[in-house]
Amino acid sequence: MFGWKAADRKVIVSSARDFYDGLAADYHLIFPDWDASMARQATALDGVVRVRLGTGPHRVLDCSCGIGTQAIGLAGVGHRVVGSDLSPAAVTRAGAEAAARGVGLPVAAADMRALPFRASVFDVVVCADNSLPHLLTADDVRTALIGMRRVLRDDGLLLLSVRDYGRAGDNGIRAARPVCAPPQVSPTAQGRVVTFQLWHWHEDGERYDLEHFQLVPDGAGWEVRVRRTAYWALTRGQLTDAVADAGFADVSWHEPESSGFHQPVLAARRGPVPRKI
Ligand SMILES: C[S@@+](CC[C@H](N)C(=O)[O-])C[C@H]1O[C@@H](n2cnc3c(N)ncnc32)[C@H](O)[C@@H]1O
Repeated sequence: MFGWKAADRKVIVSSARDFYDGLAADYHLIFPDWDASMARQATALDGVVRVRLGTGPHRVLDCSCGIGTQAIGLAGVGHRVVGSDLSPAAVTRAGAEAAARGVGLPVAAADMRALPFRASVFDVVVCADNSLPHLLTADDVRTALIGMRRVLRDDGLLLLSVRDYGRAGDNGIRAARPVCAPPQVSPTAQGRVVTFQLWHWHEDGERYDLEHFQLVPDGAGWEVRVRRTAYWALTRGQLTDAVADAGFADVSWHEPESSGFHQPVLAARRGPVPRKI
């Protein structure tokens, strides 16, 4: 009898950089309508910025801009935005997509753990759509957050959005350990592209390897594109503590129902000094 158990399966993940370099040309296909998502996400994030800092325009760094989903939208509503990301292929596309829409977006390939910008030059740092959880250790998360704090001016604003892995007293997704994420369908001229994910939880119950599938119409059949990476399912409590330890104050969470963003958004002000750990 031939048998197979999910737990037996070894997933070989790429580095985040290889994963997103490979996905850059197809990334917009995870959205039914990427331009509509850009506009919606910018309106939602801009709403949080306005409440905390006033209307602006503000100097914004999107330090995990990918192909520009938030950065292009925020530049489009008038902010002066710089985009950086670990993936050179993604930032190259972000710059080209911004230019194609008549929007100025300087970009740089950079690791959020070593941001190549002078201290105190931004009013807002954005790290959106589950980018920080690609860092798999507490040291890496702290290094990244301290670097984001360094490039923010005094009282500048950090905006961090993550998948809703769990809230106080309820570890939500993390407790349930789902094995997949629901499919997303994107219409294209060739037909519908379907994207879905399989999740393989580590023994620690906090991290998982992700297999990212894209089914692309190919004649009468499908071309299957599979890419692999890893995530740390950080709960709100873990993130709130990490952000406070890295020297941020006035931490608040903005829920999708009130912000209009599709994930919970953490907002925090650059405080006086990081806590010693
Ligand atoms: C889920 S994507 C989100 C991209 C973009 N914010 C968006 O919503 O389209 C996560 C992004 O985080 C970036 N990333 C992962 N690790 C990073 C790191 N150490 N430094 C900078 N960017 C990183 C990836 O390259 C990828 O573009």
